[in-house]
Amino acid sequence: MSAPMLINFTTTPQKLNSLPLGALFKSLAILGLVLFLFYISLQETYSYQSSDILASFKQKWPASSPLSYPPTTNISHIVFGIIGSMNTWNHKRSYVKSWWRSNVTRGYLFLDRYPTMEFLPWPNSSYPPFRVNEDITKQKLYPEVKRPDQIRIVRTILETFREGDKDVRWFVMADDDTILFVDNLVEVLAKYDHTKYLYIGANSECVKSNFDFSFNMAFGGAGYALSYPLAAALATKMDKCIQRYIHLWVSDFMLYSCLTDLGVPLTYQKGLHQIDLVGDISGLLSAHPQTPLLSLHHIDTINPIFPSMNRSESINHLMKAAKVDHSRILQQTICYHRLSSWSVSITWGYSVHVYENIFPASFLKKPLETFGPWNNRERPPLYMFNTRPWPFNNPCETPHVFYFDSITETSNTSIEGNNYQQILTTYARASPRGLPACSSNGNLSADSVTKIHVFSSPTKRLESGERDCCNVVHEAGMDSAEVIYRACTKDETIS
Ligand SMILES: *[C@@H]1O[C@H](CO)[C@@H](O)[C@H](O)[C@H]1NC(C)=O
Ligand SMILES: *[C@@H]1O[C@H](CO)[C@@H](O)[C@H](O)[C@H]1NC(C)=O
Ligand SMILES: *[C@@H]1O[C@H](CO)[C@@H](O)[C@H](O)[C@H]1NC(C)=O
Ligand SMILES: *[C@@H]1O[C@H](CO)[C@@H](O)[C@H](O)[C@H]1NC(C)=O
Ligand SMILES: *[C@@H]1O[C@H](CO)[C@@H](O)[C@H](O)[C@H]1NC(C)=O
Ligand SMILES: *[C@@H]1O[C@H](CO)[C@@H](O)[C@H](O)[C@H]1NC(C)=O
Repeated sequence: MSAPMLINFTTTPQKLNSLPLGALFKSLAILGLVLFLFYISLQETYSYQSSDILASFKQKWPASSPLSYPPTTNISHIVFGIIGSMNTWNHKRSYVKSWWRSNVTRGYLFLDRYPTMEFLPWPNSSYPPFRVNEDITKQKLYPEVKRPDQIRIVRTILETFREGDKDVRWFVMADDDTILFVDNLVEVLAKYDHTKYLYIGANSECVKSNFDFSFNMAFGGAGYALSYPLAAALATKMDKCIQRYIHLWVSDFMLYSCLTDLGVPLTYQKGLHQIDLVGDISGLLSAHPQTPLLSLHHIDTINPIFPSMNRSESINHLMKAAKVDHSRILQQTICYHRLSSWSVSITWGYSVHVYENIFPASFLKKPLETFGPWNNRERPPLYMFNTRPWPFNNPCETPHVFYFDSITETSNTSIEGNNYQQILTTYARASPRGLPACSSNGNLSADSVTKIHVFSSPTKRLESGERDCCNVVHEAGMDSAEVIYRACTKDETIS
């Protein structure tokens, strides 16, 4: 099965709303519109819906400041070991730069050789300090080594450990084409006991990749975490273990084998993404599991995640939203505009899909198969998760697709004399859908909508595993729709 490259994204690139002053005026105008819509809609006969929305604004969000995770594990307890290569550093460095925080994140970039002059002096303010991996060609087992590069990768754990950083609870290992979501990693790792032997990671999206290695192996590119005591134990046994598995030609399989022999199983952690996929992964990202996003890998083997941008731009674009609210990035929220019979699926900071039909969450949370497997010669079942095929020519099941365009933190949205602070993310239509309306009388088409404005709370972070609910405001014929996030009511059913 080949990867269907589905949506024809030939529209002109979206102009990014990055000028503060322009953005301010624009957001003021949008807020005015929202207020206007509120009052208009209050007059309408279906005011029950609008007052629900108003109620959601009035609702007191429990205050919690950003990054108020349990005080136990924080960012300084993690040391990152990033595996890079001089040959590819020039274009992969922007991926590392997108998530690395100088003076905040601790760790090292391990290279296969000393940086060439063009990369010196090393810009410490944008990248991890570099190290050059130990030369293993002098070791006596070298002639037997199948893949020296893979030995280098697995030994990076040992070399990161030997840097001797103090007060380390976790070593997080990843590749130079892995994007990490650091605050979410801290939140997730804080839930584990770092004093135990823990090997935390995720396997591949593709059944065949797991079959070829192990369903219980942490795939290295997705990023994995080793607790300090486990890394310490491994450090003493690493070279012995490499000797035992000298015939293996994949570093993460070697590590898995060593850890299995040590009696340490994989702790599977959702949200780490190896991305053993090709093509357009928007279908998967738009139906991310209800768990914090931790990593994305293989940025160079997939299409840019925003179709109007190149790869590094698209990663930096996603990071714009992630920097404002890590907890919601790629989290899927579904609500309905009942009057138009629309289902609206928002994947915060990434995309909005509008369907001209009411579908339950159980349907919309199944990823659209916009992508292909790592090896396109495989036969189904291809993936470790369920998918739904792209519904070619079906106007009721084909979404109108919008991508994240801009983000603003609005202060003081005033409604009935009360002030509400909001984060406003705007999503712009990717391209015309090119299909007739789902409804036969044609009055419920979403063709006229070019932008979706989504308002979320700046103070209430989404806890791991939690979800948001929302309401949609749209007036027939208008070119935008507004989505207002709110807490879900007890046992609220999205259907
Ligand atoms: C992390 O916690 C340690 C105590 O375990 C503390 O000394 C350190 O200042 C904290 N770092 C940050 C960035 O909060
Ligand atoms: C970067 O940091 C290293 C120490 O980690 C230091 O030796 C080097 O001089 C720094 N480079 C620059 C350009 O500041
Ligand atoms: C990091 O810390 C060093 C020394 O404390 C300082 O010179 C540098 O400006 C800091 N860099 C950033 C990006 O804050
Ligand atoms: C991606 O786009 C940015 C901004 O337009 C540009 O600076 C960069 O060189 C481009 N990267 C590639 C690999 O084309
Ligand atoms: C929001 O409005 C309140 C009351 O009118 C005011 O005290 C506060 O300074 C305003 N905040 C901002 C960020 O403008
Ligand atoms: C769409 O058409 C139906 C049937 O003609 C009508 O009942 C409904 O009010 C229309 N909806 C809108 C939003 O115009």
